[in-house]
Amino acid sequence: MKYKALKGLQDILPPEISIWQYIESKARDIFKSYGYQEIRLPIMEATDVFIRSIGETSDIVEKEMYTFQDKGGRSVTLRPEGTAPFVRAYVEHHLYNNSSPQKYYYIGPMFRYERPQAFRYRQFYQIGAEAMGIDDPKLDAEIISMLTAMLRNIGIKGLNFEITSIGCKNCRSDFKTALKGYLKDKMSKFCGDCQRRYELNPLRILDCKVPTCIDSRQGSPLVIDFLCTECKNNFNSLKHQLDLLQIPYTINPNLVRGLDYYTKTAFEVSSESLGSQKAVAAGGRYDSMVEEFGGPAIAGIGFAIGMERIISLIKDSFRKPDGPDLFICPLGDEASEKGLQIAEQMRAKGLWVEINYDSASLRSQMRKANRIGARHVIVLGEDELSKGEIVIKNMLNGKETKTTLEIKTFLKIIQKSK
Ligand code: HAM
Repeated sequence: MKYKALKGLQDILPPEISIWQYIESKARDIFKSYGYQEIRLPIMEATDVFIRSIGETSDIVEKEMYTFQDKGGRSVTLRPEGTAPFVRAYVEHHLYNNSSPQKYYYIGPMFRYERPQAFRYRQFYQIGAEAMGIDDPKLDAEIISMLTAMLRNIGIKGLNFEITSIGCKNCRSDFKTALKGYLKDKMSKFCGDCQRRYELNPLRILDCKVPTCIDSRQGSPLVIDFLCTECKNNFNSLKHQLDLLQIPYTINPNLVRGLDYYTKTAFEVSSESLGSQKAVAAGGRYDSMVEEFGGPAIAGIGFAIGMERIISLIKDSFRKPDGPDLFICPLGDEASEKGLQIAEQMRAKGLWVEINYDSASLRSQMRKANRIGARHVIVLGEDELSKGEIVIKNMLNGKETKTTLEIKTFLKIIQKSK
């Protein structure tokens, strides 16, 4: 074969596409009940949108972005995530003028030039949600509750829900000083990236995946021990709200997000059955991004679910999609023409109808109907056309029903057994 999909990108084909549609529709149902509206944003942005928000020293910006110059010489980037483009649009369209909280969701592809492996792709899909304009742990708890409901509704079990607080700018500066002090004499054991980030952004050292760096940072100070009074109260209140809503969670003070924009609440949902790529969803609060993008001081919180990862968790138990409501087996040219008319009339009534197009024997047409999972079959031959009568065969229970060749009558029979 001459051409293949690029490494780390995949075609999503039937029947697997029905799992995607199922998840998307379950997600939309939940979003509706929480008042979230859909937005569709471009898949490309000016590169600066991501550098400013995700952070210059993050892995995403340093190593994983698909960045190129367009024909006008501008640096553009395929979105590696949805929050920064969302905030760009939020500020550009003054969405903050609507009454708070403003709640939005998006479903679409993201692009990261990572080393492809199981459940890690270069193009992957996220279902994301962002709630703006309220800086209150009640909203944090509600969004976590919505994510829990969504994953439960989709049918995913056995997930770990981890939360933490990574503080605000104020508490983080004390933490940075303590962290740098702790790491100072150990830096020779760290990788080149960490050594570089020590001065630029020491917090990123906590996110490095290199095994020697993981070992060498054991015992380092935790940001949760440096929270200012406001952040501490905020986190306690979040836990209280989650308890009230009976959302199970664990506190993981070692939880580090790979994006710089987070403040206060951060969370991650994971499944042990996914191995090393176990995060199925993640999110948190970002209280200064809107201002950094030129908007007013408005707080935000959101999450994104990795579609491929949740699909892999429900794939095996997913029921195969139904086949057509009706398969028409015409025998001869006249029957074919009549069959096409019937098919069109039935489709106009909302039924899924397939017809055989070639002159195959009745036996092979019946085999085909079986193979595609047709729920009913009718045979149209000379006899049926001249008498104006047909037999509808229910393929699930084998029952045959004789009826006149009138759409009205057999529509009723098929709909009744649906
Ligand atoms: P993130 O943790 O970078 O957060 O990604 C969210 C989820 O996307 C991950 O938990 C994972 O399930 C999925 N994911 C990430 N990278 C890949 C990949 N290469 N292949 C397959 N799945 C992947 C964000 O993107 C934030 N924008 C979430 C957010 C929204 N925070 C606030 N609002």
